[in-house]
Amino acid sequence: MQAELDRIVSEALASFTQAPDAPRLEQDKARFLGKTGSLTELLKSLGKLDPSARKEAGAAINAAKALIEGALDARRRAIADEALQARLAQETIDVTLPGRGRGRGTVHPVVRTQQRVEDIFRSIGFDIADGPEIETDWYNFTALNNPENHPARSMQDTFYVDGQDAEGKPLLLRTHTSPMQVRYARTHRPPIKVIAPGRTYRVDSDATHSPMFNQVEGLWIDEDISFAHLKGVYTNFLQTFFETDQLKVRFRPSYFPFTEPSAEVDMAFESGPLKGRWLEISGAGQVHPTVIRNFGLDPERYIGFAFGSGLERLTMLRYGIADLRLFFENDLRFLQQFQY
Ligand code: PHE
Repeated sequence: MQAELDRIVSEALASFTQAPDAPRLEQDKARFLGKTGSLTELLKSLGKLDPSARKEAGAAINAAKALIEGALDARRRAIADEALQARLAQETIDVTLPGRGRGRGTVHPVVRTQQRVEDIFRSIGFDIADGPEIETDWYNFTALNNPENHPARSMQDTFYVDGQDAEGKPLLLRTHTSPMQVRYARTHRPPIKVIAPGRTYRVDSDATHSPMFNQVEGLWIDEDISFAHLKGVYTNFLQTFFETDQLKVRFRPSYFPFTEPSAEVDMAFESGPLKGRWLEISGAGQVHPTVIRNFGLDPERYIGFAFGSGLERLTMLRYGIADLRLFFENDLRFLQQFQY
């Protein structure tokens, strides 16, 4: 019996040492310690021995079993250790590489412009208002003295959305921030001093137009606000915004149904590929008496100016950018230039 046990033990130890990996080791273990393993078979045969021989043989088998289990455990640990060492050797990392860091992100240049415009007008006492991008026909056109079938409507072709207003007219994406003149003036008493920035929409797309763009509306209504106030306030705004009084700006006669007289404001590029070229940045004018009436005010008493400026265009002029569509492509190489 002892010779048999010695043979099993040395066989087990030899095969464990040779087992190259964990699955093989477990298979080998089954050959000795499994249900039909050689050591297990010996244990089963104990029953046939008489009690005194059985005790002795049992002790010998248990001793052999302890040896085999000890060797098995040692080999298991060795195999796991080898695997770990191999992985560590393969997965070397270069600890001298610089860290990837974390991008801090930044405000979009057009949003930055909006914030600066808000700061400037807030500093001279203007309120800041926000309004809906989906508008009714009345606020977007009719209240602004731009009735149905008026040819000026075709200058502002827009996107219509499902649904109707109370009069059964289709709803549309606002073509300008000017409806905010009416919304604000109907809910506030003069003197009215407000700007309303936000998204606007038109069926337009080229280097200076995008189907979605941002405007800022300005409105100052009181008993004696003249075109001279418009020129003064707006010129002063531009000088503050561009941080220089060396600007090339012109007020050019124009037409809008909701202002009389009307002007467009142009400014020349100081830098960039369009240096020296003029860009229209704003419509403006004295608010038309019909519009004052639609504010719910008496046009014999109240008068003032309005303007509507393109925020992308102010941004183009500030940084010398030639194509407005760059603002909406979200190319990080472009946007990362405005981290400040
Ligand atoms: N709403 C006009 C436009 O988008 C601009 C404008 C605003 C003109 C206010 C006059 C007064 O073209």
